[in-house]
Amino acid sequence: MNSAGVDIHDERILIVDFGGQTTQLIARRVREAGVYSEVHPWDITNERVREFAPRGVILSGGPESVLNEGAPTVPTAVFELGVPVLGICYGQQAMVHALGGQVVAASGEAEFGYAAMRVVGSTALFDGLVQEGAALDVWMSHADRVTELPESFVKVGVSDNAPFAAIADEARHRYGIQFHPEVTHTVQGAEMLTRFVRTICGCAGLWTPANIIEDAVERVREQVGEDKVLLALSGGVDSSVVAALLHRAIGDKLTCVFVDNGLLRLGEGDQVMQTFADNMGVHVIRVDAEARFLSALAGVDDPEAKRKVIGGLFIEVFEEEAERLTEVTWLAQGTIYPDVIESAASSSGSAHLIKSHHNVGGLPSEMRLKLVEPLRELFKDEVRQIGKDLGLPVSMVMRHPFPGPGLGVRILGEVSKSAADTLRQADAIYIEALRRHDLYDKVSQAFCVFLPIKSVGVTGDGRRYAHVIALRAVETIDFMTARAAQLPYEFLDEVSRAICNSVPDVSRVVYDVSSKPPGTIEWE
Ligand code: XMP
Repeated sequence: MNSAGVDIHDERILIVDFGGQTTQLIARRVREAGVYSEVHPWDITNERVREFAPRGVILSGGPESVLNEGAPTVPTAVFELGVPVLGICYGQQAMVHALGGQVVAASGEAEFGYAAMRVVGSTALFDGLVQEGAALDVWMSHADRVTELPESFVKVGVSDNAPFAAIADEARHRYGIQFHPEVTHTVQGAEMLTRFVRTICGCAGLWTPANIIEDAVERVREQVGEDKVLLALSGGVDSSVVAALLHRAIGDKLTCVFVDNGLLRLGEGDQVMQTFADNMGVHVIRVDAEARFLSALAGVDDPEAKRKVIGGLFIEVFEEEAERLTEVTWLAQGTIYPDVIESAASSSGSAHLIKSHHNVGGLPSEMRLKLVEPLRELFKDEVRQIGKDLGLPVSMVMRHPFPGPGLGVRILGEVSKSAADTLRQADAIYIEALRRHDLYDKVSQAFCVFLPIKSVGVTGDGRRYAHVIALRAVETIDFMTARAAQLPYEFLDEVSRAICNSVPDVSRVVYDVSSKPPGTIEWE
């Protein structure tokens, strides 16, 4: 409940997930339209659907065929609630199937990519966006298709391979679209989703950054009362925003511990102290643990073993600090909504572990501290937005992700201080150049990797036998898949020269052009 007596969660949209690649995007678009949304797997019980009490339901896309035995179905409570329903792709087919229409299997006329959808009827979903008779660029990805409508539905859009590209039962406020409105390729897709949640579901749009902050501050105050809270501040976006939010909510009852493990980027430790301690007045304890981390890592070259050493030692150092702070009863964590959705998906068995991503935030439950996770409901872009509104520097909230084990997984093989120093210098040159050329915000993540091999080079008249640095830059939406960014050749040339000329231990720079899959974003 905020100061105006409004609960910003009162208006909410349920997104039923059928396993589509872009389900999270649907939830983000709905929130951008100012309405709180949650993603739940399709096997959510009817009781939970009723408890959730949504103002509307969106059925996501998914990889299955409704015609297969045991295929995912729409929880029956969805149709009993009497609220508007929008089925997207598989969601449309599952709705049609459930309500007595017909879906036929793929017959070689699948549509993947752009398609033109012609509007052939009037519907509240398109009103004011496209005129009847006009065509719209939409993004399709389907093989099966709807061939017969359930009673009371009418066709409102067609495409070459989808005779029912858009359908509507206006009286019951049920809509089905074969295309994906959540992806940017569908022109006006975001407006359609906005129309659905604001006009058709009648939501006023309470989910705004200012309301989110006010609500989170209130909830933290209610949760922790007069108690003291401890936060492991890493300098990454999530823990930084938690620090700013908690500082606003509880002021000096917050203590942050910042562990400098010697695997940070150039000047990062000082930057964190300056932003939080000096400028914002947050109480931050800086622990210099470089020597401890480097000696624990000596002789360890297996990537997973390195992660375990770094994660384990982080917990040890953090616990030592926490023990000193005897009055603390709460531990704050920067868990965000995609972590919550993904751990729900992996506990139901649908996600695969590729690397153990024990984030530095993953602290042990035996600490006997109660957990406060004020970002648990937020997507990354919402976290960034409220970070800016809370006064954090834009350069900090817009930073690329940085892995918990830091440079430890960017120095291939055994980690040493000299390799970390070399990598830090090269990385700073690369990142500065990306910013100067206005490329930093155009890629999703960029960094250097230190390769533990030597190669021959020449400088002046001399032969140089030194290390190799790999540059990585990727474009991705969800970090689950990614492609190498096509950085301009002149830019790569400039960075390569700058690194070879000014970093003593580097004789060669290479650019990594691998996608994920088969590569991963990090090299270890
Ligand atoms: P990969 O390398 O698996 O990375 O394609 C996907 C994203 O996750 C980050 N990453 C990590 N983050 N602890 C973290 O907190 C880790 O051990 C870790 N490994 C990878 C990576 O930077 C990328 O953004």
